[in-house]
Amino acid sequence: MGTQESNEQAGGTGRRALLGAAVLGAGGAVLGLSGTARAADARHGRGPGGLGDLPVPTVIGHRGASGYRPEHTFGAYELALDMGADIVEAGDLVPTRDGHLVCRHEPEIGGTTDVADHPEFADRKRTKLLDGVSTTGWFTEDFTLAELKTLRATERIPANRPHNTLYDGRWDIPTFEEVLRWQDEQTRRRGKQVWIYPELKHPTYFRKLGLGTEERLAKLLRRHGKDRKNSPVIIQSFEPTSIQRMNKLVGNPLAVLLSGANSRPWDFVETGDPRTTADLITPAGLKEIASYAQGIGPTLDLIIPRDSAGNLTEPTTLVRDAHRAGLILHPYTMRNENPFLPANFREGSDKDAYGDVFGAFQAYFATGIDGVFTDHPDTGLLARDEFVNR
Ligand code: G3P
Ligand code: CA
Repeated sequence: MGTQESNEQAGGTGRRALLGAAVLGAGGAVLGLSGTARAADARHGRGPGGLGDLPVPTVIGHRGASGYRPEHTFGAYELALDMGADIVEAGDLVPTRDGHLVCRHEPEIGGTTDVADHPEFADRKRTKLLDGVSTTGWFTEDFTLAELKTLRATERIPANRPHNTLYDGRWDIPTFEEVLRWQDEQTRRRGKQVWIYPELKHPTYFRKLGLGTEERLAKLLRRHGKDRKNSPVIIQSFEPTSIQRMNKLVGNPLAVLLSGANSRPWDFVETGDPRTTADLITPAGLKEIASYAQGIGPTLDLIIPRDSAGNLTEPTTLVRDAHRAGLILHPYTMRNENPFLPANFREGSDKDAYGDVFGAFQAYFATGIDGVFTDHPDTGLLARDEFVNR
């Protein structure tokens, strides 16, 4: 994704020699909680209602329970709720040609749908420059919603999640409007407020195509009465100017996503703003973010960097610095499978086998983060219980 880096790549193997150091180095911001955490975030002035209602550390189902079902489907979203996730990332938002917001991780949908099996769409295959990266496939902005609704979702990473292919073809692509209705239905059915955490994907790219996504998102939130400070909808984006735009349009809690320290948000690239993520996570950079957002979503490597072998090292000061600026932190992304874990928490080398993810969760929770995105909410919830009750 453009200049963004991710923690999705595999690395070598190693020992968990630094877990103790990481835990002992904890900021302890959430220590003292007992039982299931209920930390109304008084520190940030968020009393009952809104963000203050969320347990801390908050467990966010990343693209649903995407470790078990094809991502961004109602199957994945509902399983996340069944498992007890505090929030569901429903969804990553991209527009159709006729301006509807739909839930796909990327505009390119060759890897997450059966579009390649539809001969009627063979001539829609394109190579485009997406945030500076040449990308080949099928793009949501070249399809009407009616056309997209003829496709079925498939597992994105079958090498790591072979069992999930069992569910290929079961669900279609959700629209965000369907998500908003689903949120209300699930809240009624479960007797508990369901939270969602939509992300605006590539907003500058889409605006240049005449498909600005912020106004469309704001309009839908208003229509459903979910555009307020205490609405159970947190909005995220990797582009700070997109979050600034949302701050003018709605009252919802907002979070700026942060990729690797050397990366540059794509809106900065397009506007000639020379700042990198490293500049944004200085105390001055965080203070500026806090003027229009309530949180940040850093890659986990900004919380605890890895060494050249992929092992966790020592926590940075980011948790402390962000809290001092009044920002909460929801880093991404915890996954159970070996290739996605720090090297010192892997067990064996099978791509689809689980490593010591509980050990990794403890290391990250101990830094004082306020929550985490995970593809495996059940694991995250057990790890949270272990952390707050230890
Ligand atoms: O939104 C948190 C995380 O989802 C950001 O990364 O690429 O998975 O959307 P990505
Ligand atoms: Ca996302």
